[in-house]
Amino acid sequence: MLGNFSYHNPTKLYFGEDSLRFLKDELQHYGQNILLVYGGGSIKKNGLYDEIIAVLNDCGKHVAEVAGVMPNPTVEKLREGVRIAREHHADFILAVGGGSVCDYSKAVSVSIHCDDDPWEKYYIRFEEPSCEIVPVGCILTMAGTGSEMNGGAVITNHEQHLKIGHVFGDDVMPKFSILNPRYTMTLPKYQMVAGIYDIMNHICEQYFSGEDDNTSDYISEGLMRGLIHASRIAVKDPQDYEARSNIMWTATWALNTLVSRGKSTDWMVHMLGQSVGAYTDATHGMTLAAVSLPYYRYIMPYGVKKFARFATEVWGICAEGKTDAQLAEAGLAAMESWMQELGLVMKISELGVTEDMIEGIADGTIILDGGYKVLDRSEVISVLKASM
Ligand code: NZQ
Ligand code: ZN
Repeated sequence: MLGNFSYHNPTKLYFGEDSLRFLKDELQHYGQNILLVYGGGSIKKNGLYDEIIAVLNDCGKHVAEVAGVMPNPTVEKLREGVRIAREHHADFILAVGGGSVCDYSKAVSVSIHCDDDPWEKYYIRFEEPSCEIVPVGCILTMAGTGSEMNGGAVITNHEQHLKIGHVFGDDVMPKFSILNPRYTMTLPKYQMVAGIYDIMNHICEQYFSGEDDNTSDYISEGLMRGLIHASRIAVKDPQDYEARSNIMWTATWALNTLVSRGKSTDWMVHMLGQSVGAYTDATHGMTLAAVSLPYYRYIMPYGVKKFARFATEVWGICAEGKTDAQLAEAGLAAMESWMQELGLVMKISELGVTEDMIEGIADGTIILDGGYKVLDRSEVISVLKASM
């Protein structure tokens, strides 16, 4: 049964090859001092930086820049961005990049007018913002996280070996996001497939919970089927615009709060993956790929009916003559061979995890209780060991 919930998503989207032309109109709703945030240089190489600067100049905006936002943005970089934003009296943050740049911009936006240390306030004490929030707009260059239409902001603290996400509310979600699939075409294949798996796993994290008949699950199954289809085309031909545009749109709907309505949601693959990321700084989607199958094979007996449904409805496996357990395993085997087709990393040892890190990774894994089995610490360790 669906139960009670509210649904509201304030982010306005502009999708397609023409979408950048709406930037000028959108910027007119905000102040003059823009903080332009971007990553390690991909937007300079592919010409997007010049296009955006031209629009900003055309609007007469005063621009300060935070460049070099790294994948898995750090708390030190967050503090640097807050300092630059304050010096510039930023009234709007324009994020141009992937999930890291979008997440980072949201974290800066809630910290500029806040006296507390942002790590302590938002990532340790999990408090909500009590200060003015500087609005954010995104121009997305990588499909995967859904950050373009959600309140998530994941920050890494290497000193403390912690990578933690805070999901902020409506006020922190981007005011608008520009989604041009063409921008994702310059992504290295490693990042493209990591993003595809991130999308798949966002849907799985919400799908593998609950035993009720729930509209969200039917939407999720459609999203997964479409993603698998498009991913197979994109892996063979990364320049296929149709496939890349379907992947980008699926990423947004996978994690913009729609398919979590009425669901308890699991998110343990992300908790495990984030802790692996805190130790290795590995690419987010690859950390998820590496822990997924050991985790799902372990919890499958506790949610066998849903895993059997996953096999028939997502992977098209014929149910005839099979028990639920056989179907469930066949579904996971189908997912495994698709992951191999994509060329995903399937072991945490290949991401730099060594035996001596396992205890620390387990300590950094937040245990959630919305899925089919609540893990204890020893079970976290055995899932991690099964991925070595
Ligand atoms: O920094 P640049 O030079 O731009 O290069 C980036 C980066 O090296 C590159 N890239 C992005 N677009 C490109 C491109 N290279 C060439 N052409 C382009 N068009 O790709 C690399 C990875 O970018 P990044 O932004 O780190 O990837 P992703 O979008 O996967 O974001 C990962 C971060 O998002 C967090 C992750 O934990 C991680 O910190 N997440 C955020 C979520 C949310 N907001 O809800 C949920 C996710 O589960 C995830 O946790
Ligand atoms: Zn993710």
